Order: sequence, then structure tokens, then C-alpha cells
Amino acid sequence: MKLYFAPLQGYTTATYRRLHHAIWGGIESYYTPFVRIEKNEFRRKDLNDIAPENNTDTPVVPQMLPGNADELRQTAELFLINGYTQADINMGCPFPPIALHRRGSGILPYIDIVSEILTATAEFPELKFSVKMRLGWQSSTDWTHLIDILNSTPLQHITMHPRIGKAQYKGCVDLEQFTAFYEQCQHATIYNGDLNTIQDINNIHKQFPRLAGVMLGRGLLARPYLTTLLDGDTANIFAIINETKIFHDKLYNELAATSQGDSQLLNRAQALWEYFLPQTPRKERKAIVKATSPAQYLKSVDRLFTAWESESSNSNVIF
Ligand SMILES: Cc1cc2nc3c(=O)[nH]c(=O)nc-3n(C[C@H](O)[C@H](O)[C@H](O)COP(=O)(O)O)c2cc1C
Repeated sequence: MKLYFAPLQGYTTATYRRLHHAIWGGIESYYTPFVRIEKNEFRRKDLNDIAPENNTDTPVVPQMLPGNADELRQTAELFLINGYTQADINMGCPFPPIALHRRGSGILPYIDIVSEILTATAEFPELKFSVKMRLGWQSSTDWTHLIDILNSTPLQHITMHPRIGKAQYKGCVDLEQFTAFYEQCQHATIYNGDLNTIQDINNIHKQFPRLAGVMLGRGLLARPYLTTLLDGDTANIFAIINETKIFHDKLYNELAATSQGDSQLLNRAQALWEYFLPQTPRKERKAIVKATSPAQYLKSVDRLFTAWESESSNSNVIF
């Protein structure tokens, strides 16, 4: 089962992807957060994120967020100039400022626009395209009106997150609609959504044995070491804790090198903990997010790793 790292705007930066790949790997491709055109220009932050010099040695696929064929063309050109041979098209973003402008999942009810975008992919034979989508925007059957266009477009794969855009991340994934999609989709299909443990991955694989892979997002932000546990779970908890500490410290050092002032550094470092290591001792986690200076933050992080280690000496279970 191939594993893909989902794009997570604000989290899976070039630094994050590079460190994850260097420390754990096990990921077929890391998808970049979407590159978007704003007032006819690319955002500087997006350009830096996909720049080849920031992505050496990591298997990266850049993602675009086209609202029409022209935006696809402009972004495809950008990816080609930067040396990429693959491009992912975002048709899943649920955030209202994006979706209400007929982008991301908000594009799914508009068959003509989706068709125009997918048709334009043929102008770029040097790029292999994939699509990352939801079932629909307001209706979980929007995809049924698009399946013929999707099937007739040469695509490397389709990643399906079986929720509607309107639901954002609430409620359960809709496995009934996913089953119908899986049966009708003629492309390699990747499942995405709410996979947080090895057991979740194994269960979905059992249910859908023809899957070409699974894409993990928040599950990997929480437990970035999960990728090393897939092969029979021979990993040592203390090695995992040590690697996770190294991962954190390197990420923090890069944040420190690129932040303007303590307050920005602290905000950026604390944001990581929105998802990171939810299973670790609560008291220490709280101290991290309440820290008021980088020094206090670092002391709290050290305490958390020490507490995690001593908690683990009673059991060798890796969560
Ligand atoms: C903070 C955040 C940022 C995201 N940014 C992107 C993005 O840039 N492009 C995209 O296709 N999906 C984005 N997603 C959606 C994820 O890639 C993924 O589809 C979603 O989180 C469901 O998978 P999960 O349950 O494994 O996290 C984002 C999700 C979150 C929570």
C-alpha cells in the first residue's frame, strides 16, 4: 500500500517535508499545499515553497488551485519552469473564501468549468496530472456528473476525500458514496480521510483492495513516525521518541532562522502543536501552548519528551 502525505496549508512546508523524508521517509510523494493565483500573481510564499532548491531529495508533487483553464495553464507553466513532471489539481478545498469563488470543492457543481480545466491538461504532455477531490460541494453526488469527464481525461490517479465541501471536516466520511466512486472510477484511486492509525490504514485497504494507495494528512501531523510502523511494527518506542524529538528540534531551528522576532517564532512553533503528538502527557502539552517565551517553550518541550519517555518505560506500545 503506497502512502502519500496530504497537502496541509500552514503545516507541510518545504522544511517540514524535507525533514520528514530525511528522518522517516516511507512516503511515495509529498503534495505541496496549493499554489494559487491572487490578483494575477503567484504568492511569494508559494513560489518559495515549490522552488527546486527548497525541495532537493524529497519526492514532491506541487498542487494547483485553478478556477479556470487559464489559471491551469499559468500554473502548469510555473511547475514546468521549476522542473516538475507531475501536477495535482485541487478540487477539494472546503474553505468558503476559496469554494465560494468556484475553486477547490466549490468547483464540483460546475461541470463546464471542470471540463474546461481537465481538457486544458492535454496542452501539457510533459506533465502527469492527478486530481484531489471531494464527493461534492453541497451534494455528495456531484461527482456522478463528473465521472465521465474524469474517466476520459488521462490522469495519474484521483485522490478522493469522501466528504462534501460544506461539511468541512465535520461528521463521518461517506463510505457508501466512496464505494460507488471506487467502482466507477477507471483511474488509480487513492483514499484520503480520517486515517490516524496503522489499523485505520489496514481496514481501508481490506475494504477497498484495489486502492492504489492512501493519503494521510492530520494523522501524520499527529504521529509523523507512523510511516515506519507499517512493516510489522518492530520499531522501538525509545527510538521513535528520539527521532520525534530530533524532528521537532530541527523544525524549530528552521523556524527560528526564518522568524522575525520571538513572538512570531513562538506563534509558529506553538501552531505545530495543534495536531502534534496528541497522545503525550496533557500537562506538559498545555505548558507548551501556554509558554510566553521561546525559552519557556523549549523547556516545556524538553519536559514533554522526558515525560513521554518515562511513561513509555512501562509499556512498549507505540501509539
Ligand atoms: C490545515 C489544513 C490545511 C489543508 N490544506 C490543503 C491544501 O493546501 N490542499 C489540499 O488539497 N488539501 C488541503 N487540506 C486537506 C487535506 O489534504 C486532507 O484532504 C484532509 O485533511 C483530510 O485528510 P486527513 O483526515 O488525513 O487529514 C488541508 C487540511 C487541513 C486540516
